[in-house]
Formats: sequence, structure tokens, C-alpha cells
Amino acid sequence: MVALALKQAAETTVTGQQIDLENVSHQFELKGAPLPVLDNVSFSVEPGSFVSLIGPSGCGKSTLLRLLAGLDHPTDGTVKVDGESVGDPDPSRILVFQDPTLFPWRTVWDNVALGLEAQGILRSARHRVDNAVQLVGLSGFEKAYPHQLSGGMAQRVALARALVNEPRLLLLDEPLGKLDSLTRLTMQGEIVKLWQEAGLTALLVTHDVEEALFLTQRVLVFGPRPARIVADIAVDLPYPRHRGDPKLAELRREALGHLGLAATW
Ligand SMILES: Nc1ncnc2c1ncn2[C@@H]1O[C@H](COP(=O)(O)OP(=O)(O)O)[C@@H](O)[C@H]1O
Ligand SMILES: [Mg+2]
Repeated sequence: MVALALKQAAETTVTGQQIDLENVSHQFELKGAPLPVLDNVSFSVEPGSFVSLIGPSGCGKSTLLRLLAGLDHPTDGTVKVDGESVGDPDPSRILVFQDPTLFPWRTVWDNVALGLEAQGILRSARHRVDNAVQLVGLSGFEKAYPHQLSGGMAQRVALARALVNEPRLLLLDEPLGKLDSLTRLTMQGEIVKLWQEAGLTALLVTHDVEEALFLTQRVLVFGPRPARIVADIAVDLPYPRHRGDPKLAELRREALGHLGLAATW
């Protein structure tokens, strides 16, 4: 069944979006005073690649994902997806949060179906819900309610709810942050597989340097707020990766050094 779901997913393979941020600055107002959050951030991401963003808490990582999702617009500079300035939110660009926020009165299947229902295309696209549920390994739990799921399963539902839209850009904001460490390790491998199968562009915000290095092809390291890019680290290792790879240990030292944590290693 899983093989079939993967095959079906492969047949509907989407192409990942290209991302270009040019001199993006952003500030909020806090008690009448400006709060600068992003400071002149520029970077591009190739279609289909998997890139992580790490940096101190509160530096502006979630804000950056919100700009890409179209939930907010930058004070300065341009955020482009496939060459066009990002306007309103769109199902081709989906943001997944740390907290799965499922509707408790809806089953797994009905929670996953939400996006298609909102677009009014559920009737003709029910197979997409079935596929998404299978892709995240929740076959057999379609009729379960959120209170009957573990934390890892609930986060799988949140991922399926994103994938059902067949996004071309998947924005992951600390999606595994609340999970226990064993579930987290399992789901890290699953996220890599999902990314490889779907062919989409993925951006992962994480506070876990090892997770960033294990999952993604490139790690952008941000400094303290207002965030600027302080390092752009290529993780030039094939998948599947091995956690004990000495190259990963070397890159971890490099990344921690950029975060000012070198002394602990
Ligand atoms: N809507 C908002 N209004 C005012 N300040 C905000 C808003 N959203 C975020 N901030 C502030 O912007 C800064 C960056 O937040 P965020 O992007 O969530 O950081 P990170 O995800 O890197 O931890 C924080 O100081 C936060 O308090
Ligand atoms: Mg955040």
C-alpha cells in the first residue's frame, strides 16, 4: 500500500519553487517603537532543494517563513517565489508549525481533507487525502480523532494536511520541536523521504544543529535579531546519511562556531 502511495505521489510529482530574497528587511512595532527583525537578508534557493535556517531564538526565522508564505509582507526589499513577488497566501506554499493545531472534532481523514474542502475540490480529489495519509504512515488511523493520537502521529497529520495541497514550497517551522527524541529521530528520516518523493522545495527552521545538518543540503545560519545571514554552509553529503559521519561532526563544529557556541565543543 505504501509503495502504491509513493508511486502515485511520484506520478503527480510537483516541481519545487525557486526562492529569491533580495535585501529583505522587516520591522514590527512594539509599544510604539520600531522592532527591527530582519536586516538586509538576501539569498536564493534552487527549485527542489532542502535548506535549513538556524539562529538564536527570537532572531526572526519564523518571520522569514511568514514572509515566504505571504502571511506578512516585508518592510523593505523583495521576496520572490518563481520570480514573482509573494502576494497573498496560496496552497502552493504551505507553512507547517510546531503545534499541529488539529480540529479535535474532526477525524484524521477529515483534518487532512481541510485544505481541499476549503478550495471546494474535495469531491473530485478524495484520493489525494488517501495518498497523503498513506505517505505519512497513518493508514488505518483515518477514523481516529486527535485525542487518540500520540504527539508524533498528530504531527504526521499536520504534515499530511500540508502535503494534500501538493505544495511546491514546504515551509517547516520547528515541526519536530515538541516530539520526544526517539519519535523525532524517526520522523527526521521520514521527512527526508517525503521531500525526495515529492520533488518540492523545502525550508526547515530548527533550533537543532544536528537536525539541520542531517536533513538538509544547506544550512543558513542567522545572527541575533535583527537577523542577518552569518554563514551559508553546504552539506555536500548524499542520502541516506549516517549520524556518525565525521563530516557531519566537522560541520556541526563549524555551525556552532558561527552561533558563538564553539567553546562547548
Ligand atoms: N506580530 C508581531 N508583532 C510584534 N513583534 C513580533 C511579531 N511577531 C514576531 N515579533 C517579534 O519579532 C522577533 C522575531 O520573532 P520570530 O520571527 O518569531 O523569531 P524566531 O522564529 O527566530 O524565534 C521577536 O522579538 C518577536 O517577539
Ligand atoms: Mg520561531
